[in-house]
Amino acid sequence: MAELSLPKNSKVQKGKHFAAKAGAKKVRNFKVYRWNPDAGQNPSTDTYEVDLAACGPMVLDALIKIKNEIDPSLTFRRSCREGICGSCAMNIDGTNTLACTKAIEDCKGEVKIYPLPHMPVIKDLVPDLSHFYAQYASIKPWIRTQSTPMPDTERLQSKEDRAKLDGLYECILCACCSTSCPSYWWNGDRYLGPAVLLQAYRWIIDSRDEDTGARLDDLEDPFRLYRCHTIMNCAKTCPKGLNPAKAIAEIKKLMIQRRGA
Ligand code: SF4
Ligand code: SF4
Ligand code: FES
Repeated sequence: MAELSLPKNSKVQKGKHFAAKAGAKKVRNFKVYRWNPDAGQNPSTDTYEVDLAACGPMVLDALIKIKNEIDPSLTFRRSCREGICGSCAMNIDGTNTLACTKAIEDCKGEVKIYPLPHMPVIKDLVPDLSHFYAQYASIKPWIRTQSTPMPDTERLQSKEDRAKLDGLYECILCACCSTSCPSYWWNGDRYLGPAVLLQAYRWIIDSRDEDTGARLDDLEDPFRLYRCHTIMNCAKTCPKGLNPAKAIAEIKKLMIQRRGA
């Protein structure tokens, strides 16, 4: 998997420049990565002049305006526009983040937009997340139980146990953290990466889950868990303010505890 965003031996070329319409009042340049693997050409960066006087405040607003009014071939993912679905994750102004919650005014100068780094690219700003999702599926992200509940009863959780999921359940699986992690860049074929490990911890500490031992067994591996070297890029970049590195450290602590038990 550890394929770079760019095809090997290719350079990002300077692409087209799309000037704003006459009369534009507040022009800002957006430099956007373009690559269509089916076209057999090297990637390029196209520059679009966008009139911010007629555009919403977020980077996603500018991308939608470009697609609707300037260049319909520009390809990117988005859905909720509210920082909930995670689909508009991309690298903006040098940081992995969500285009729908990144304010244009917080970007410096020309707004540079690239796909999430070190992932195969399907087209333009759309990375191939198949491997990332397969890794997520591998941790079996649902409550696993051994016991049979009494008929018509729920598996209840105390307020204190529910509070242990705070800082974890909010993860929207945008992959900003995993694609900012150098260990994941180089070992993403076997290292699960911060997003998936944060999710793994979310199920490990859920008081209703009864498969903690098997979950830890599954992570006891030099690559799946132990490639995290606490570089902390993940926590710095998470657009939801979460700390995957802390969750990974907690899993490692549980590993040590059970060895000593
Ligand atoms: S931890 Fe944050 S950056 Fe990572 S996938 Fe979840 S929401 Fe995205
Ligand atoms: S703390 Fe661990 S998971 Fe986070 S960026 Fe660093 S190596 Fe990757
Ligand atoms: S469009 Fe859903 S998070 Fe940005």
